[in-house]
Amino acid sequence: MHNNDEIDFQALLKQPVRFFGLSYIVFLLLGGLTGAYYLWNLNTISRNSTPPAVLPDSAQFVLEVPMQRGALIPPVDVAAVAKPTKELVAKGANLYKANCASCHGDNGMGDGLSAAAMTVKPRNFHSAEGWKNGRKISVIYKTLQEGILPSGMPAFNYTPAEDRFAMIHYLRTFAADYPVDSLSELMELETVYNLSKGSQLPAQIPIAVAMEKVAAEHAARSAAVAAAAKTIARGGEGAARLAAEVTADPAKVAAVAMTLGGGSAETFARMVSADPATLGFKAKAARLTAEEWSALYSYLSGFAKKG
Ligand code: HEC
Repeated sequence: MHNNDEIDFQALLKQPVRFFGLSYIVFLLLGGLTGAYYLWNLNTISRNSTPPAVLPDSAQFVLEVPMQRGALIPPVDVAAVAKPTKELVAKGANLYKANCASCHGDNGMGDGLSAAAMTVKPRNFHSAEGWKNGRKISVIYKTLQEGILPSGMPAFNYTPAEDRFAMIHYLRTFAADYPVDSLSELMELETVYNLSKGSQLPAQIPIAVAMEKVAAEHAARSAAVAAAAKTIARGGEGAARLAAEVTADPAKVAAVAMTLGGGSAETFARMVSADPATLGFKAKAARLTAEEWSALYSYLSGFAKKG
């Protein structure tokens, strides 16, 4: 007889089915090892998880305005410029070469030098196929007014109306089958764009460019104020010495100095005497004589002219 607690290997060998009774040990070990492995790598697992979706910067939702030079659009008589006279077509040919040929090609085939790099190809004026706005004079005028910006067709809204009609007449010579506008379509053009009155196009610059400009101007001004402050603090002879003597805070006095000009020594004296500390002056500035104020004023307003 043998001990019950021990495994009877001989019996096991005779009946291998009994091995299955021991298999729980294997599963227990496997489960434990997998769990340990998982815990060990928890850091890596969480790092590999998909990052949360992030909305694009809200600044991108602001529609950026395109750069545009200001222009005065002179009035034009629609009934007259709507006719493709020899003079207008000749003028249009020159303007077309200068403004349109780089994309639309010298012969209006849509094969200008810039066309190669463009995803949406410039319109071939010989073909009636696939026009977005349309081929009538009135509609092409709208195309030139607004452009088709997403495809790279620029707006020519700063171009005088007559020049636009000239270019339109010229491009319409590339094919014989351009549709004719009705009188009412031409008159509508007149009312929509106020052609007989002319218009003024304000200059506009993109927000980003404007911000750069403001920052640059601000930086230039800060530099000028800092330079003036240094000069004032340094003092010197006459009015310069006087200024240094009554100055408590050179930066403030310099900032005040940059705003001077166009005023008078008396108003300046009254302004400083009322509140010397706030404007960066010592209290004793209030005791200066009229001549001293006058000297101080002309010395300090000199910085405004330089800045
Ligand atoms: C920078 C390149 C470029 C310049 C310069 C340019 N165009 Fe275009 N133009 C295009 C592109 C690209 C298209 C095609 C747009 C589309 O189909 O979405 C186009 C389309 C047009 C169309 C067809 C609009 C329609 O209804 O489908 C007209 C008309 C036109 N241009 C006239 C002109 C005239 C006139 C000029 C010069 C004053 C000019 N373009 C200058 C690129 C240009």
